Amino acid sequence: METIKTDVAIIGAGGAGLRAAIAVAESAPDLKVALISKVYPMRSHTVAAEGGAAGVIKQGDSLEDHFNDTVAGGDWLCDQDAVDLFIRQAPVELTQLEHWGCPWSREKNGHVAVRPFGGMKNERTWFAADKSGFHILHTLFQTSLKYPSIERYDEFYCTDLIVADGVCQGVSAIEMRTGLMQLFQARSVIIAAGGAGWMFPFTTNGAIKTADGMAMAYRAGVPLKDMEFVQYHPTGLPGTGILLTEGCRGEGGILVNKDGYRYLQDYDLGPPDPWPRNKAMELGPRDRLSQAFWHEQKKGRTVGSRWGDVVYLDMRHLGEKKINEKLPLVRDLAASYVGADPVHELVPVRPVVHYMMGGIHTNIDAATPMPGLYAAGECACVSINGANRLGSNSLTELLVFGKRAGEHAVEHARSAAQPSESEIRQKGEEARKRVTDLFLREDGGENITTIRKEMNETMESGAGIYRAEDSMRETCDKVLELRERFSRVHLEDKSNVFNTNMLYTMEVGSMLEAAHAVAFSAINRKESRGSHQRLDYTARDDGSFLKHSLAYYQGEVEPRMDYLDVVITRSQPGQRVYGGSAK
Ligand code: FUM
Repeated sequence: METIKTDVAIIGAGGAGLRAAIAVAESAPDLKVALISKVYPMRSHTVAAEGGAAGVIKQGDSLEDHFNDTVAGGDWLCDQDAVDLFIRQAPVELTQLEHWGCPWSREKNGHVAVRPFGGMKNERTWFAADKSGFHILHTLFQTSLKYPSIERYDEFYCTDLIVADGVCQGVSAIEMRTGLMQLFQARSVIIAAGGAGWMFPFTTNGAIKTADGMAMAYRAGVPLKDMEFVQYHPTGLPGTGILLTEGCRGEGGILVNKDGYRYLQDYDLGPPDPWPRNKAMELGPRDRLSQAFWHEQKKGRTVGSRWGDVVYLDMRHLGEKKINEKLPLVRDLAASYVGADPVHELVPVRPVVHYMMGGIHTNIDAATPMPGLYAAGECACVSINGANRLGSNSLTELLVFGKRAGEHAVEHARSAAQPSESEIRQKGEEARKRVTDLFLREDGGENITTIRKEMNETMESGAGIYRAEDSMRETCDKVLELRERFSRVHLEDKSNVFNTNMLYTMEVGSMLEAAHAVAFSAINRKESRGSHQRLDYTARDDGSFLKHSLAYYQGEVEPRMDYLDVVITRSQPGQRVYGGSAK
């Protein structure tokens, strides 16, 4: 097995990975960076982000407001020291992107334009029309090309962290083009491998978001934090799950039910507020809006469609000029995928799994509890998002904490002890054996697609918008059963070159591990908070659960759960108030 020696290995080349790589290259040009990704960087899921990135810039807004919106939006489960750092660094990072060439949309006077976003009480979401992720990713990618110390390994699938002497000292990976396993020996490792939406049947996420980074850390003994908090975005396109950005509502779009009624006025999200103000209701936080859909469905007020139940997003009053200027991609997507032109027609939408608030446990420096291992972006939980992330905080998060991960990985790389070469090689061999064993497995009568489908179904029924003990218990049992059955899956395709059968199988394995952490973290949190809403424990319980949950991998059995106090600096838990009413 070939060993590639580097200083900092970065797993994932989306927004967080690229930002981390640039931070390493800028602060330590003498250190080598291996940027390893299962896809070409511009195919990372950051590219699909539409609405924008939050950072205080407009007169009348304040850092304190951004802090308060984020903490209340997260139902007080955010670590406030991390939020404080985040809101201060947000405008710095977004301005940095501007200097690197990001074409932010502008006001007529030339100032950077900002749009309203859900749960943000002031306008602070920077955007590049509705292709913000594309432009951010492009800006980071082109900037990364300036640095000769960044060496890219595109289409390499990372399989296992290499932990020697209790320190993370590298990662094993399969080169998809050849099927060869490689060992990346590194002095620091950063995981920036994105989220896990494909655990669920219906998601805005690209098909590459399969929990690989989370699972790698989990198996290596690093806890997954707050995994029970799964975000549904209220406006996905039915059928495909493709996102229709919150920017649609930020620009004035409204949601109506089958009677044409603006139903959000019934859900403590403020009174109807006619266009062009539209400051409440549709601009409430995502957890509340998705829960409102669930209630409308129960009341029989959603619309049956060939894709299942939907409500309508009405943007007709915005006019063609505004839609073309601010939401051109949305117009294109709606017309292409559901045959509705938002200029003239109502667009069917429904809640769709969008984001994992939980992830690899890190501190404010993006460091995990394992020396030498860092994580940033959606795969990490630092935690600024608490129980419910506000839209547009995540693009900024991956910049702020991607940079921080890079800088702290440099510090570790400079001070790390001599690598434990023989143990690293031995761990590399173990990693290779895990893959080889998969190729050698006999047909055990299990089909990987069936397993994935059953995982999707059980995650939706036991870890969906509303949860209850019975269905969560079934999901916990089912995930354990699926993990056992997974050990009997064999590869139909034993070839080496771009073996997608092998890739898909390993991805499903990763998702089953992350699903295991979601299901058990959820059943053990006996309260309702943010996106974790239980029908049997309907109130938030700060006495028992103002705590992060930590799931520790224990092999084939259920995880060991532990809890960690939330960092509260200046905002004591209170009521979440939107549109003038509290709940
Ligand atoms: O609706 C959106 O544009 C999504 C933004 C986000 O998740 O931050």
